[in-house]
Amino acid sequence: MKITDTFLWGASTSAFQIEGAYNIDGKGLATTDVRKVPEGMADTKVATDHYHHWKEDVDLMAELGLKTYRMGFSWSRIIPDETLVPNEKGLAFYDQLIDYLLEKGIEPFVTLYHFECPQALVDAFGGWKSRKMIDAYVRYAEVCFKHFKGRVTKWVTVNEQFIATAAPDLAMEYIKDPYERSKWIYQISYHVSLAEHKAFALLREIDPDAEIGPVSSIQVVYPLTSKPEDIIAAQEAEEMEEFYMLDISVYGEYSPAAYTWLKKRNLLPETQPEDAEILHGSKPDFIGVNYYFSTCAKAEEKPFDFETSFFWAADDCRIVANPNMPKTEWMNMGIDPLGLYNGMRKIYERYRLPMIVTENGMAVSETVGEDGCIHDTYRIEYLQKHIEQVMKLKREGYPVFGYCPWSFIDVLSSHQGFSKRYGLVFIDRTETDPKECRRIKKDSFAWYQKVIETDGNQL
Ligand code: BG6
Repeated sequence: MKITDTFLWGASTSAFQIEGAYNIDGKGLATTDVRKVPEGMADTKVATDHYHHWKEDVDLMAELGLKTYRMGFSWSRIIPDETLVPNEKGLAFYDQLIDYLLEKGIEPFVTLYHFECPQALVDAFGGWKSRKMIDAYVRYAEVCFKHFKGRVTKWVTVNEQFIATAAPDLAMEYIKDPYERSKWIYQISYHVSLAEHKAFALLREIDPDAEIGPVSSIQVVYPLTSKPEDIIAAQEAEEMEEFYMLDISVYGEYSPAAYTWLKKRNLLPETQPEDAEILHGSKPDFIGVNYYFSTCAKAEEKPFDFETSFFWAADDCRIVANPNMPKTEWMNMGIDPLGLYNGMRKIYERYRLPMIVTENGMAVSETVGEDGCIHDTYRIEYLQKHIEQVMKLKREGYPVFGYCPWSFIDVLSSHQGFSKRYGLVFIDRTETDPKECRRIKKDSFAWYQKVIETDGNQL
């Protein structure tokens, strides 16, 4: 990784959570466009209408002083369906956006896969359940790498493989049997890992100066008590919620603990002889870290149970809230800034790769106050405490090269519409009425502007 002296102060969004314009200019439907949304909740149709506000948004980023913008491409805007033919209008949308970012001195940092893919690929062959999806992803990556060569020099293969591969809309919605579902999740995850390695190798060929890595939803799991059983439960949880995927990204293989866990439950994926060479043939340049809160684990014998498990269905461990940490309505596992320090240290000890915080933020239900402003002091406090930990890691010599809060503007939540918001910029819309999607800077905007200006020396 070419770590420069310039620390990359950034901010994040993803395509389906902001763009809107879900079916225009040749865009195909994405899995997130057809997902059933509860009555009265916002969906992807308009989101923040970034598609029509992109210039204003980049101007706000420039005013904020961003060095990098961690954004997503919508696969179905670039390649709408199984014919794998690129959509020129889709590429043109990103051309204007990328070019304007560069003009403003903001480095585009692009995620290829963030929780969604063209629905046509799911309909045609089952999406990630099939190996055909690996070729489709590689084709999409190739189109992007070639088209944006020299303009986009930092890429993310997959955002949060752990969460992405458990998404029910990846053709698993109708599988009720928990064992069957688990089996598919690990098979899908394996296909994603193969696709990711092919993308690493492809970028080296197409643009050797560019860099690429995965983004992990790091899971900082403490034992609920000092009972040895709980300690093992917490270790297993971190292994199966985080490290098994990063081990494949970096080392091309499962850790002994993950292999044993999967084998014992007959969940090891089906493989093919040529896979080992693909998985061992390439490595990422960096690891992106998404972190919101920590959790605790306690040992418990129970059958697989998707209803009560938090993210992860395990039969020997239960993930619970951290009793020592403050909680809020939407951050109900426990806010834990030190967890970020703890989690990133573990990542560095295990992988020795440069790291960037790609997401970190606080969800709150917000409306505009009578004075027309949003005084989000709670968010400032949250970000401040987490940035302190990042600065500490830097001081101690860990190669952390950037920090991107989630999110630059309020985005459509992955599952809760606009009822919870994370942005530095407020989007004036309700769940059901997009209005004009007016942008209003929150207090945290000015605060973060100062942080960037002082390079993190004034928090
Ligand atoms: C991360 C995702 O997991 O968490 C984002 O990468 C997401 O896409 C964020 O929005 C917050 O989660 P949620 O469910 O509150 O939107």
